[in-house]
Amino acid sequence: MNPHPANTARFGRLIGISLGPGDPELVTRRGWAALQSDARWAYPVKKAEESSYALDIVRRGGLSIPADAVELVFPMTRDAVALAKAWARAATQVVALLAEGRDLAFLVEGDASTYSTFRHLARTVRELAPEVEVDTIPGVSSFAAAAAVADLALAEEDETMAVIPAAYGTTVIDHLLDEFDTLVLMKVKPLLDEVLDLLERRGLLATSCFVEKVGAPAQRVVHDLASLRGAQVNYLSLLLVQNPKRARGELRRGCRKRAAQVEPQATAQAPSPDTGGAAAHPGESPAATALS
Ligand SMILES: C[S@@+](CC[C@H](N)C(=O)[O-])C[C@H]1O[C@@H](n2cnc3c(N)ncnc32)[C@H](O)[C@@H]1O
Repeated sequence: MNPHPANTARFGRLIGISLGPGDPELVTRRGWAALQSDARWAYPVKKAEESSYALDIVRRGGLSIPADAVELVFPMTRDAVALAKAWARAATQVVALLAEGRDLAFLVEGDASTYSTFRHLARTVRELAPEVEVDTIPGVSSFAAAAAVADLALAEEDETMAVIPAAYGTTVIDHLLDEFDTLVLMKVKPLLDEVLDLLERRGLLATSCFVEKVGAPAQRVVHDLASLRGAQVNYLSLLLVQNPKRARGELRRGCRKRAAQVEPQATAQAPSPDTGGAAAHPGESPAATALS
């Protein structure tokens, strides 16, 4: 007998639950509800029966792990054949579970749409079973949480930011520092010393910050980047780099230009074309209205 008679579809839904980067308080209400639904849990591990960072977030949040939760193995390897095999195995396992008619909730560290196994898993599953419905529950990314604990803004007003894996190398990073006010360097571990050298050459050590395992008990926030030279760091670490010296071009349609145009009209209480004719709120400065 089907223990989940409410689900009459052939396949259950594949749900990607973003758990945020480590602090269970950052799991969204929607994510929390999905964890407590009837869905079976699946969680990623690098090796069979190894600990799962995603599972640990939920455990620290006070939920007990259901006995029927399943682990899916995604090895950390550059061996393309081994990787393809592991992905095929995981996707086949997921399709078989979904075919029971019950939803499957895949636990994702950080945000499920940001450098996450989940989107790739969903694609692979749909290749095998195109009718599978996928629901992605968004969440807090590692770099959003990192900026918060580092007491930094990722971008303000008309600033620009880019998020890249550090593996592009220092030549690319050097070039991007001229293009963006903030660079988020993900997966920085293997290149950390090289990147630190570059930041020192460019005089940006003081305006950058290293964050490891944000939100987890072992969280580390390092502002004194020179102290990291030669240090062992965890894979779950990133650099937030700010370049306050970046030369900017003129903003063609940006906030600053509009602010300058709106000011005389707002003083005369004319409706602003930018707000569809809505007048500024009492007490709100005209510039603030144009910038919001
Ligand atoms: C495969 S990506 C996962 C990204 C994740 N889905 C997110 O939304 O941030 C792994 C990289 O994300 C960053 N990362 C993920 N979790 C982190 C954490 N708790 N603290 C610091 N960096 C983290 C690191 O740069 C790590 O190498």
